[in-house]
Amino acid sequence: MLRYGVFACLFLINSILVRGDCPPERQTELHDEAKLHSDLLCAYNSNYRPVKDHKSAVIVKVRFALKYISFDSLEETITLHSWVALNWKDEYLKWTPSDYGNIQEIQMESHNIWTPDMALFNADANYQSSSFFTTCLVNNEGTVTCVPHLAHTGICRTMLRRWPYDVQNCTLYFGSWMHTGEQVNFTFYNTKPVVMDDFQNGPGWKLLNVVNERLPGSYGCCPNSTYPMLKYTLMMKREAAGPAAMIVVPSIVIVLLTLTSLLMDIKDNTRLVLLCFSLFGHFTFITEIGYVVPKLSSDTPIILLFIRDSMIVTLSAILVTLLLMSLRNRTLPPPIWVTSLNRIVSSGPGKYVIFTEFDPSVSMESKVLTEDSNSASNNEKSNIALDWIQLANILNTFVFIVSFVVYLILITTYIPTD
Ligand SMILES: *[C@@H]1O[C@H](CO)[C@@H](O)[C@H](O)[C@H]1NC(C)=O
Ligand SMILES: *[C@@H]1O[C@H](CO)[C@@H](O)[C@H](O)[C@H]1NC(C)=O
Ligand SMILES: *[C@@H]1O[C@H](CO)[C@@H](O)[C@H](O)[C@H]1NC(C)=O
Repeated sequence: MLRYGVFACLFLINSILVRGDCPPERQTELHDEAKLHSDLLCAYNSNYRPVKDHKSAVIVKVRFALKYISFDSLEETITLHSWVALNWKDEYLKWTPSDYGNIQEIQMESHNIWTPDMALFNADANYQSSSFFTTCLVNNEGTVTCVPHLAHTGICRTMLRRWPYDVQNCTLYFGSWMHTGEQVNFTFYNTKPVVMDDFQNGPGWKLLNVVNERLPGSYGCCPNSTYPMLKYTLMMKREAAGPAAMIVVPSIVIVLLTLTSLLMDIKDNTRLVLLCFSLFGHFTFITEIGYVVPKLSSDTPIILLFIRDSMIVTLSAILVTLLLMSLRNRTLPPPIWVTSLNRIVSSGPGKYVIFTEFDPSVSMESKVLTEDSNSASNNEKSNIALDWIQLANILNTFVFIVSFVVYLILITTYIPTD
């Protein structure tokens, strides 16, 4: 008997909840706003599009008010924090203001009413869902405006060729996840589709521009349906002062160091020390860049290629220096072509190019060598040494010019022209 009583009671409660009717004294206590609220939600189903004719589309206007962007160029993801204003017409949320004490507008929770399923299409794996929870504004014409604060994380391939002076274009595509354009039609607000009034730049990046475009999304496969998308292209510039101070300027210094060492006298050991130091510097910079630059990006930063090539030039300079050092100490009589080469160079305008011609230590050395030579054999010996020294100097000048030209070519090919 008791059991039937409980069932009857549950049934009664259930039927009250389902029908939603309340005791009459509660109904009269409601003020106009609450009455409007409960009347609007009476028999309202938030799962279906709020149109009376199923063939008509819900036009959803979108406005992005950008607040903050964080861009992770290593992970190749961009997170856009913004207030997204969504505006559409709900045909079931209309009322006559005079019936409700002239209320023109009312606030409603977004989970009580239908909301568009706006989704980010190029989202990264952690992207949660397209739904949002906020309070929306509804007016008596049925126009609903919701402004949720949303963070969208999208994938953005980075182009690092011009690192650290690179500009990245990140594109985010928004649209309805499951509805066609004939059901839910996403468009921009007529005025100011993107607002950047309160925008703050994220670390390391400066937002230059935002371009918005609506893709109609009509495909040959389905002539009767469209899949419109809202496309936002964010153009961002890297704040390059830090990386430039860290890598670009030191690599210029190290290149100048290599070139200057090549100008030094061959027999000077400082030259070898400087060149080795420069080679070490190249290794350090390549390692340093490896920490900052994603090694797996779609293109390699120019600065990395430049330092790599400069490292090869420096290594060649070290090898050539060692070679020239051994050349100077040769005692064998030089072959004919060496003496004739020396004669040609020292008689022609080429001698002004050979820097060591003006080097006092070298002329002293040759003078000493010539003065000391009393006997014929001594004279011959000094001539041999002089020939080799001259050859080494000529080669050295040649190597310097070649390195200089190689650097010029490297700089002109690697520095972007645009
Ligand atoms: C980025 O987009 C702008 C405008 O669409 C274009 O002019 C520019 O070349 C693009 N830059 C890159 C690196 O793709
Ligand atoms: C959607 O809106 C756009 C622009 O507001 C309009 O050109 C297009 O015809 C609309 N599509 C549908 C299916 O209503
Ligand atoms: C598109 O609509 C037309 C006219 O309503 C119809 O004849 C045609 O079969 C439809 N095409 C597809 C692919 O549904």
